[in-house]
Amino acid sequence: MNVVTEWPERLGSVLFGDVPLETPAFIYDEAGILRLLGKGAEIRESSGCRLLFAVKSFCFRDALELMAPHLDGFAVSSLFEAKLARSVLRDRGTLHFTTAGLRPQDAADSGVLCDYFAFNSVNQLRSHRDVLHPAVQVGLRVNPELSFIGDARYDPCRPASRLGEPLSTVAQILDEGDSVSGLLLHTNCDATDFGQLETTVNKIRRGLGPRLEDGRLRWINLGGGYLFEDEYGDDALDMTPLYRTIDFLQRGCSLETIIEPGAALIRTACYLVSTVLEIQTRSGGKTAILDTTVNHMPEAFEYQYEPDVLGHRDDADWACTLAGCTCLAGDVFGEYSFDHPLAVGDRVMFLNMGAYTLVKAHTFNGVNLPTIYALTSGGELLMKRRYTYDDFAARWGA
Ligand SMILES: Cc1ncc(COP(=O)(O)O)c(C=O)c1O
Repeated sequence: MNVVTEWPERLGSVLFGDVPLETPAFIYDEAGILRLLGKGAEIRESSGCRLLFAVKSFCFRDALELMAPHLDGFAVSSLFEAKLARSVLRDRGTLHFTTAGLRPQDAADSGVLCDYFAFNSVNQLRSHRDVLHPAVQVGLRVNPELSFIGDARYDPCRPASRLGEPLSTVAQILDEGDSVSGLLLHTNCDATDFGQLETTVNKIRRGLGPRLEDGRLRWINLGGGYLFEDEYGDDALDMTPLYRTIDFLQRGCSLETIIEPGAALIRTACYLVSTVLEIQTRSGGKTAILDTTVNHMPEAFEYQYEPDVLGHRDDADWACTLAGCTCLAGDVFGEYSFDHPLAVGDRVMFLNMGAYTLVKAHTFNGVNLPTIYALTSGGELLMKRRYTYDDFAARWGA
């Protein structure tokens, strides 16, 4: 867990000022998003690659509107994401589609919205290629079978992975002249070592031989899975292997090179603010019950990680368990320590909430979804979306 002792300056007024805030509140910080997009722009300008945002990580529409002018397009993984992303992009950029499971009607409907369509398997390619708009660039996802991740649940290259075809199959498809003009790979998760990407591309190079550079391919999408700064945001990452890799693909192989990060462009720019409802003291220690739940960030529970909380210090005096408000015994965020005791009514702020939180949130126990706010670049807090009983009831058929 990160040690976080400083309140982000921009949020001071939100937490301590007179600004009314309905909690649980999900805040996306426009200046934070623009800062991360600036890092993406640096990569794009220094290397000449194309930069997409993978909307599966976060798809709040107004935020996508903010992002679109700084991107070459969006990467999507379903018909719904494709529709949403296209409605934001209009004709300002390209839409790139890939999914592990494709229903025939979704292929047909997405095939007229997207510009690039990377099929996940040869079966997918053969079943659905013909329903795409003829102008769509057809690609195939390659799985280089090279793992860098300890936890198989996050590893697209885990043994017998369903995500992409092995190199030998891709080579065969290219030799059969199956109208594939590009490749997509996505092989890592939250990585900060671009040497791993270079090693992966070198393996693809060895596996495909001349097919990578003899003109039959026009583009390659390197996916996401890499961050542009480490957890302290200190710009210490060595970007050289990334630039070398893109240079090899673009200049050495004449391939249009694309990257489609998700987390790197959004994670640190969002916060979840909750209110302490009750402090319980039991023989085992204190528990602060919050008006949020792990179901507002289900990965915290599914993958058993403790989210970063503002004000926590490992060696601070006042320790407690932060817990959610549902009936699930395991609705627990973790053990935290603060310099001052928490009290009923205090606000507790979770950091780094941008990626794979809101998109996965649900309403178990009828606990409402967080209200969504934008912290504008001008420092104003704007309520963007409040979910009501009617939203809940409509979902359940009322
Ligand atoms: C094909 C593809 N592209 C991009 C991404 C975005 O990954 P990340 O958010 O780790 O950058 C994912 C995430 O699962 C993915 O599956």
